[in-house]
Amino acid sequence: MSETSSAGGLPSHFSILMRAILTYFVLGAGLVVALYVASNATDFVMRVHGVIFSLAALAALIAVTRRFGTAFEKPATAGTGDNRGYNFAIVKWGTVLSMFWGVVGFLVGVVIAAQLAFPELNLGLPWTTFGRLRPLHTSAVIFAFGGTVLMTTSFYVVQRTCQTRLAGDILPWFVFWGYQLFIVIAATGYLLGGTQSREYAEPEWYTDIWLTIVWVGYLLVFLGTIWKRKEPHIYVANWFYLAFIVTVAMLHVVNNLAIPVSLMGSKSYSLFAGVQDALTQWWYAHNAVGFFLTAGFLAIMYYFIPKRAERPVYSYRLSIVHFWSLIFIYIWAGPHHLHYTALPQWAQTLGMTFSIMLWMPSWGGAINGVMTLSGAWDKLRTDPVLRMMVVSVAFYAMSTFEGPVMSIREVNALSHYTDWTIGHVHSGALGWVGFVSFGAIYCLVPWLWGKKELYSNKLVEAHFWVATIGIVLYITSMWVAGIMQGLMWRAYNELGFLSFSFIETVEAMHPFYLIRLLGGVLFLLGALIMVFNLWMTVRGSAEAANPMRAIPQAAE
Ligand code: HEM
Ligand code: HEM
Repeated sequence: MSETSSAGGLPSHFSILMRAILTYFVLGAGLVVALYVASNATDFVMRVHGVIFSLAALAALIAVTRRFGTAFEKPATAGTGDNRGYNFAIVKWGTVLSMFWGVVGFLVGVVIAAQLAFPELNLGLPWTTFGRLRPLHTSAVIFAFGGTVLMTTSFYVVQRTCQTRLAGDILPWFVFWGYQLFIVIAATGYLLGGTQSREYAEPEWYTDIWLTIVWVGYLLVFLGTIWKRKEPHIYVANWFYLAFIVTVAMLHVVNNLAIPVSLMGSKSYSLFAGVQDALTQWWYAHNAVGFFLTAGFLAIMYYFIPKRAERPVYSYRLSIVHFWSLIFIYIWAGPHHLHYTALPQWAQTLGMTFSIMLWMPSWGGAINGVMTLSGAWDKLRTDPVLRMMVVSVAFYAMSTFEGPVMSIREVNALSHYTDWTIGHVHSGALGWVGFVSFGAIYCLVPWLWGKKELYSNKLVEAHFWVATIGIVLYITSMWVAGIMQGLMWRAYNELGFLSFSFIETVEAMHPFYLIRLLGGVLFLLGALIMVFNLWMTVRGSAEAANPMRAIPQAAE
């Protein structure tokens, strides 16, 4: 067998050997560092994380040994980036883990909702208190569920629309499992009490460095795939995914600039202080909404709605206009989180103005998504998956109208600190992020596993209604609770004293917290129905005549 490259650029034994040596070197060095940290850590959180990193490095060593073993036997399977079939194995894993994290995140949401209604459920243990479970919930739903959905769908969409295999052989797997490791490290850190106390950026310094490495890999895989595309055109969904990947990298690095107290300890201190710290934090967090919870999921909308409806995108021009205006305007709107604070007034006004301007590009996207159904409206009657995705866009439109209203200083004077904000968050989170993700996964599972259709459309229908009722209960109860809370806090009697003590306002929330809890349980129930339906679809015998034909071409 020749050691030189074979015809068609197949990897030779020599190049496989070189890659194997390099990979072993990196993993071996990682293992040594992780073991050293595990044995010399100055606090418990760091020690546990040292152990987890060591186990992950060992698992990776075993996985790459098997991978290189197969590659040596059959170099043609080593996949150096040429076009021998798509890498859908990674997408399958992603689909399964998305559902797993979704259920975990919703369940923790239900638990903390119950804790707010019945504080005894904190159980008096440090790791089960609301303070630790709340960031566990937000990270589980945003980064574990949402992030895995985004990574998974992006790996699928970029391959299909570029008509080429995912760039790299081991790199995409490193990105995928590296991201899952980040989730495990973040989650265990919260439960053990390790936190930077920056909302949506709670993981400590070494977790942030790890995520940065993984994210650079993600960017390389995504760009590499676009680079070697067989289609001249870069489909609009890829623009949104790219904006999400690049901007999140920038936000993450700047917001997490910190100095660790010791290299063997988990604690660190931010480089920023005072009002600069607050501004950096909310510049980050608002754009996490804009680029993580919005741009990435718009990419999903732009691929999966046209595909499902079998219609081209309503207006390609609108997609370009709203893309550029959205990413230009979002980045300035963060100060609306800091009304009536030490932040200079002009900066607050800037945040408010840009937030109001944001309404237009947001609705541009929503209109483009919904109008893609022009000429195919009848499908809403017969296809519950499509209905779910269209309703998600309606929730997107609703929360991006509510957001600009809440950013007006006078409105924010009432809404800030109240449950109105929580209602706003969840109309975006459950209605938009949740539903559009469910829609995409419902599409992906039959396509990936080569099935003609889902096991049961009736169960999708049941999921849709149970979850929709859940969302409506959640957000309406929070609107009423929030506005009531705000009004009670600012009510004075004729002598100028506050009409209500704080505890009276807390007591008044109880019935609404019960309604929210019920809403959350219904949403979780819907997700469990979905898991059952997907499981039965994968197990089912209704094979598609030709699995690849079950994956239609990109719209447009
Ligand atoms: C079963 C579903 C869910 C339930 C029951 C639930 C419940 C809760 C509760 C009780 C809180 C704390 C509210 C407070 O501190 O007063 C919360 C916060 C939050 N949840 Fe959820 N949640 C669910 C799903 C989701 C999903 C799917 C997402 C995102 C994709 C999400 C994102 C958030 C965020 C960002 C916050 C923090 C809000 C803020 O600080 O203003 N949740 N959730
Ligand atoms: C045009 C679009 C939007 C604007 C202008 C906007 C504006 C706002 C405003 C003014 C607040 C309250 C800030 C405060 O009083 O502290 C807020 C909170 C929030 N919004 Fe939006 N919003 C928009 C869309 C969305 C969407 C689509 C989502 C979710 C998918 C979302 C998620 C959140 C979250 C998570 C918070 C709570 C942050 C926190 O305090 O922890 N927003 N938004």
